Amino acid sequence: MGKNGLKVAVVGATGAVGNLMIKVLEERAFPVGSLKLLASARSVGKTLPFRGVQLPVEELVEDSFKDVQLALFSAGGSTSRKFAPVAARAGTVVIDNSNAWRMDAKVPLVVPEVNPEAALIHSGIIANPNCSTIQMVVALKPIYDAAGIRRIVVTTFQAVSGTGKRAIEELQNQVCDLMNGRQAVSQIYPRQIAFNCFPQIGPFLDNGFSEEEMKMVHETRKIFGDPRIRVCATTVRIPVIYGHSESVNIETEKPISAEEARRLLQAAPGVRVIDDLSKGGYPVPLDAAGQDETLVGRIRIDPSVENGLAMWVVADNIRKGAATNAVQIAEILLEKGRL
Ligand code: A2P
Repeated sequence: MGKNGLKVAVVGATGAVGNLMIKVLEERAFPVGSLKLLASARSVGKTLPFRGVQLPVEELVEDSFKDVQLALFSAGGSTSRKFAPVAARAGTVVIDNSNAWRMDAKVPLVVPEVNPEAALIHSGIIANPNCSTIQMVVALKPIYDAAGIRRIVVTTFQAVSGTGKRAIEELQNQVCDLMNGRQAVSQIYPRQIAFNCFPQIGPFLDNGFSEEEMKMVHETRKIFGDPRIRVCATTVRIPVIYGHSESVNIETEKPISAEEARRLLQAAPGVRVIDDLSKGGYPVPLDAAGQDETLVGRIRIDPSVENGLAMWVVADNIRKGAATNAVQIAEILLEKGRL
């Protein structure tokens, strides 16, 4: 590993997102001098590859962050609640993928294509937004800037990888069991996920919305810095492994044509427009999986409201929706000399 690079830690290195964080650091040639892989005591003894070398996984403990300059966390909310402040006190900058700190007023919530400047004002912890929110705000940013957004109605179609490694296995095992005449067993999800879908992501709250749906409301407002945006979300789990899709309807302040929206999106950073209906051109999860762009198609006027626009937005939920976004935040800090 490079001698002059940074001392970096990945917390939750053995998980679906943590594993990808290691890969994305390598792919984007992030200047890592040494890499510390942290997980629970269960994973001690395992090794994971980084730049062709097998690195040991260590147990996450209070002392883990000595001399570590940057820690990427993806080990669940309770681990982040406990250890992110420990790391911050040790002088480590934490970029946290969990839900633990996102709505804390002192913690910036950052999508580099939307509010990069927010990353520079922090007290040791920076939050990575929810996967469904990230891809939606990347696609809405150029339209927000050009025409303003009053209201968003979104329905998501979310892949199981967002729940973690064990959920991927649950889908695969259920498909295998059902195809072999056995009963499907659900341990991670509230309902059978194979050959099915269900409108529940996270627990339901008193207002009838799920936790995931309310994350989309609050996080969208915080990232745009606009508490007036009205958002109504329905989040649905579908039997896809990688790639979230979203049907997004917006009401803008000023009228905007579908052609203008398409032109703005074509020029937007991190976005690729796939919108050629004559050739069946629209993005699907298999197009998004394994790459970092947010794919947008089916851009059209929503005639049911004044200034209405509808679109279909697809991205790799554990890349742009998690690991890549976290590494991009670290790149901003690096570029501004803040690491
Ligand atoms: P481990 O593999 O040792 O359980 P996923 O979201 O794919 O399920 O991954 C969760 C990640 O968070 C894994 O790397 C897991 O490590 C890690 N993790 C879970 N609980 C803890 C904990 N209490 N301390 C440290 N790491 C944890």
